[in-house]
Amino acid sequence: MNNFWKNKKIFITGIDGFVGSNLAKELIIQKAKVFGLIKRKKNSLIYFENLDKKMNLYKGDITNKKLLKKILKENKIEICFHLAAQVEVGKANKEPFSTFETNIRGTYSLLDSINHNKNYVRSIIIASSDKVYGTYPKKYLPYKEDYKLKANFPYEVSKACCDMISKSYAGELFKLPIIITRFTNIFGPGQLNFSALIPDIIRTIILNKNFIPRGDGTAVRDFIFVKDIVSIYLLLSKKLYMNKNYAGEIFNAGTNKPITVKKIIEKILTQNKKHEQLIKILALMKSAKTTGEIPHQFMDCKKISRYFKWKPSYTFERGIKETINWYKKYITK
Ligand SMILES: NC(=O)c1ccc[n+]([C@@H]2O[C@H](COP(=O)([O-])OP(=O)(O)OC[C@H]3O[C@@H](n4cnc5c(N)ncnc54)[C@H](O)[C@@H]3O)[C@@H](O)[C@H]2O)c1
Repeated sequence: MNNFWKNKKIFITGIDGFVGSNLAKELIIQKAKVFGLIKRKKNSLIYFENLDKKMNLYKGDITNKKLLKKILKENKIEICFHLAAQVEVGKANKEPFSTFETNIRGTYSLLDSINHNKNYVRSIIIASSDKVYGTYPKKYLPYKEDYKLKANFPYEVSKACCDMISKSYAGELFKLPIIITRFTNIFGPGQLNFSALIPDIIRTIILNKNFIPRGDGTAVRDFIFVKDIVSIYLLLSKKLYMNKNYAGEIFNAGTNKPITVKKIIEKILTQNKKHEQLIKILALMKSAKTTGEIPHQFMDCKKISRYFKWKPSYTFERGIKETINWYKKYITK
């Protein structure tokens, strides 16, 4: 237990999302006063675990400046986490306009609202993404924080804009206390976007269904457990609250252990003794083609460990075990 968070007034956008709900859960345990923005009521860990009664929720859109100003002012918000976003890559490809509205306009709506309520806010964490780096030839990997953003597809571009807009508000004109995070793929309890690889494969195992691979499994990625991400968020936010010189900093984070999608699938199915299912999936993968995906993506995480001695505490195996147990309860309920 860390006394720092007790009674701190925290605002989380996207609080009913995967990462937001896990963050809110930990902040409630730490006795913070948690306020959150939700777009509309939907399936979420916050309702499944009855956390909604322990927080103050506002319904509205992230582009609604009037509402954002009201939340910030009325509650004297001191710390913000901006997680609200349209995160589905496929949807972004089909509906770039609404993705840009949410991810770009949403970001400057929030930051501009804070800019008008500067008195209280001392720490703002902006969730950018590893996708902002776009595609680099393999020899340049892992991505470092000072690499040029080479986003190309709509989701990547929307997050790159969110990232740069945040940098601008942290700069010499507005001097907002902002840290930007670029994390790798996250997994864990509460991830209810079943178009993502790990929720999809876990659902397949629990319901004994067929898993349709989206590619040949050669894509290289890095997957980090959500509790490690929550620990980084709390760490960075607290450091920034205590020392505004961290404003404008960007931090990558991941496990530093890149892995192929095929290996991930093998690990999950083997750990759960689903050998027959695994043989079928591997056979399907042989004839599957990977399209529209960055082939290799993982990040250099030396900066965050150099600054704060941070390193992940969960192994993939431990994280996945906790995750599967959570989905079992969720799916059977
Ligand atoms: N999950 C990952 O692997 C990952 C990796 C890197 C970065 N990120 C970033 O972390 C953040 C959280 O991701 P997540 O996985 O929890 O996604 P999520 O989709 O589970 O959560 C996003 C939340 O934003 C809300 N939202 C969407 N449009 C909105 C709007 N117009 N107004 C108000 N709220 C709106 C959604 O309702 C949802 O609750 C995102 O910004 C994402 O880009 C996620």
